Parts: sequence; structure tokens; C-alpha cells
Amino acid sequence: MKVLIVGGGAREHAIAAKLKADDASLDLIAAPGNPGIAEIARCEAVQTSDISSLITLADNERVDFTIVGPEAPLEAGIADHFRSRGLPIFGPTSSAAQIETSKRFAKELMRAAGVPTARASSHVDATEAKRALTQLGLPVVVKASGLAAGKGVIVAQSREEAERAIDSMMTGKAFGSAGAEVLLEEFMSGEELSVFGITDATNVVTLLPAQDHKRLLDGDAGPNTGGMGAYAPTCLATPDLLSRIHEQIFAPTLRALRAISCDFRGLLYAGLMLTDEGPKVVEFNCRFGDPETEAILPLMSSSLLDVIHAVARGDSLRDCAQPKWSTDTAVTTVVAAAGYPDAVRKGDEIQLPAVPSNVHLFHAGTAMRDGALVSNGGRVLAVTAVDRNVTAAAAASRAYAESVQLEGKQLRRDIGWREMSRLA
Ligand code: AMP
Ligand code: GLY
Repeated sequence: MKVLIVGGGAREHAIAAKLKADDASLDLIAAPGNPGIAEIARCEAVQTSDISSLITLADNERVDFTIVGPEAPLEAGIADHFRSRGLPIFGPTSSAAQIETSKRFAKELMRAAGVPTARASSHVDATEAKRALTQLGLPVVVKASGLAAGKGVIVAQSREEAERAIDSMMTGKAFGSAGAEVLLEEFMSGEELSVFGITDATNVVTLLPAQDHKRLLDGDAGPNTGGMGAYAPTCLATPDLLSRIHEQIFAPTLRALRAISCDFRGLLYAGLMLTDEGPKVVEFNCRFGDPETEAILPLMSSSLLDVIHAVARGDSLRDCAQPKWSTDTAVTTVVAAAGYPDAVRKGDEIQLPAVPSNVHLFHAGTAMRDGALVSNGGRVLAVTAVDRNVTAAAAASRAYAESVQLEGKQLRRDIGWREMSRLA
């Protein structure tokens, strides 16, 4: 079988590694890939935004199907273009992807479907947005409606801070066109949980729930990032909670999407807040989460390839068994570049010590320059360790991440701390 994977980060490296583990004879092409992915796949220098070249690549190579990692090509309609040419692809159409690419769309859909989420209002005018602040308490959450790489969210503790956030998003264009519209949201407190559902638009195969660490610094301090680490599983996710999430969140959301002719075929990621009133949606994403994928997939013992191939072909998942999992725990520590998330420094040389047998090293922003591995993005590496419990896995993940040589590197040394304190 031949598969094309679109993307070049640690998430795509983890997906590629899992697909190869499912079928060692798999012929894997990545566009554009990265130096880590190049160890297990053929990398083609086609950018994820170049949809017509991706179509040509998939066509010329006669791939069985394509899987899309990042959200931007989905927003740009890669799935629509592939499907209209009869090329099987795993990922939602551009209109279904709006569940991530437009926070306003997601809110309206949830409201119509009765899916629990924070109260919110959306605004295209800064003065009107500031006026609406009076109707929400504090803290208040200010979000850019469009795509902002996980960074377009500010939890404002005061009205002044909220007004500054509105100004920087709407007038200062801190997030480009993503901030032309802002959402003001009621603050929810509780534990966060990421649940991935692979879906054929109706049936859902749920992956092991994970917890992300979005803040830059230990103790969940500092600015929001794309994600500094993750772990799976978590004792928060009881079977009861998971069936509630299915009944109250996945099922009605997919029903509401089908009702507006948006068949979501791909991975629906529910970012949840476990509040006193039950699970509520913080956000939906239309693709695998990063870095949760790097923690989840090394624990999956049944085939991912079979499930996503079925969805890409347009088959039903009705008779698909729920996936099987290792009983171990995985902890992923992200090694980020100096300056991340604001002013990323690239081009620093990276030295990688030998990788222990229980560690999976996934490349994110790396590149080869004159025969040397150098940093080439904000998040540089994702280091996943698999061990018998969260404490052992966290220690192994941190130890390897610490041993990576990269000038100015940043990493969190407390990934999994919430789970450890719950279990203590
Ligand atoms: P998002 O990009 O919407 O996932 O938001 C990024 C992060 O901001 C989330 O993971 C939460 O930690 C935080 N956040 C977003 N919305 C809320 C909310 N309504 N209440 C509390 N925290 C939030
Ligand atoms: N882990 C957060 C995201 O993938 O957006």
C-alpha cells in the first residue's frame, strides 16, 4: 500500500511512525516531511499550501490515500479538491473544517445542537466588542475567530487587559486576518481533556484521551503556545465520562454538521473543560492534535492504518472495533527553540544523543543544513517516553529532552504533573 502524508511536524512524524508500525511494507511519502520523517518515508519538497502540486504528486504516485496533518490545507479545501478528482483522502472538506477554522461557526453549531460550551458573543467591531465586555464577568476570554496556531487566545483578568487584547487582535492585527472577528467567552474552570474521534461523519472511533500543556512555563504559567507537552492516558477519563462525551458532544455535533450538509470525514478533536457542570467544549479541531498525537499513537496497539484508510475510502465505521491500547503511559516533552512562542530563533545546531528503547523521538521544526541538523521552527522536537506509569514516563521523557543539545532550548520539566498529583 502507498500513502501520502501532508505535513512536516512532530504530529506527522508520529503518524508516519505508527502507519509504518502497522504495516512495515507500507510505501510512505511525506510532503514536505522533515529530517526525522525522512528516516521512514520518502520526502517530497512540496509545501502543504501547494494543493495543485499535492494533487499531481498523489496522482503520479498512485497513492492509495492521502492523510492531512495540519489545519491550513484543510481550510484551503484540499479534501474537496482531492475528492472531486476521485483521490481518497483522510480529512474534512473546507466547510466541515470550519468547526476549527471559524470559532464563530463552531459556537453557532454548538448552540444549535445543544452541545455544552462557554457562553460567547462574536464581534467584527472593536468598540462593540468592548461594550459587550460588561455582560461577561472576569476573567474573560478573548479569542481571534480564525486560525492563529493555538496562540490567538487571551485569558484576561481585568477589563483593561481584555480591551488591550481586543485592540491588539482587531486593530493591531496581531493575528492577521484571523483577528478580524473576535469572540468573547465566559471563563470556564476545570481540568482540560483532549479527545480525538475518528469519524465517517456518523460513527466515531475514539482514541485514548490525553492532556495537553498549552502554557510555556512550568506550573502552567506564561503565554499560551501550540503545546509544550502531553500525556496519555489520564485517570480523568473514566468510561462514564467518555460515554457522556460521546452522547453530549460527538454525536450531536456530527448530527448538526450532517444537517447542514457538512459530512465530517476525518479526525474531530474535542478540546474539553471538565467543569463542575460536566464536560464543555473549549474548542474543536478538524485534525490530529499536536503534541497529543505524539503521546497517544505510541500506545495504540491495534491498526490506525485500517481505520483511516476506511474513512479515506468513504467506508462506514459502523462495524469497526474500538482501538486497542497498551496499558503503559506515554509522556511527551516538547523541546522548543529560543524565543518561542514570540520571536523564534532558527538555524541553531542540534546534537541528539542515542535514543533509549522506550523513547520515541519525533522531529518537528528541524532541517538539514550543510550536513548538520539545525532548528527550523518554534517547536523543534517532541520526545515521547513510554513506561509503566506517568512518573516513570515523565522522568524518561524529561531526561532525554534535557540531554538534547540546542542552544537556548526551552522545555517544561513538569509534563504530567496534574496526573501525578491526582494519583499521589
Ligand atoms: P483554544 O485555542 O480555544 O483551545 O484556547 C487555548 C487555551 O485557552 C485552552 O486550552 C484553555 O486553556 C484556554 N481557554 C480557552 N477558552 C477558555 C475558556 N472559555 N475558559 C477557560 N480557559 C479557556
Ligand atoms: N494540542 C493543541 C492543538 O493541536 O491545537
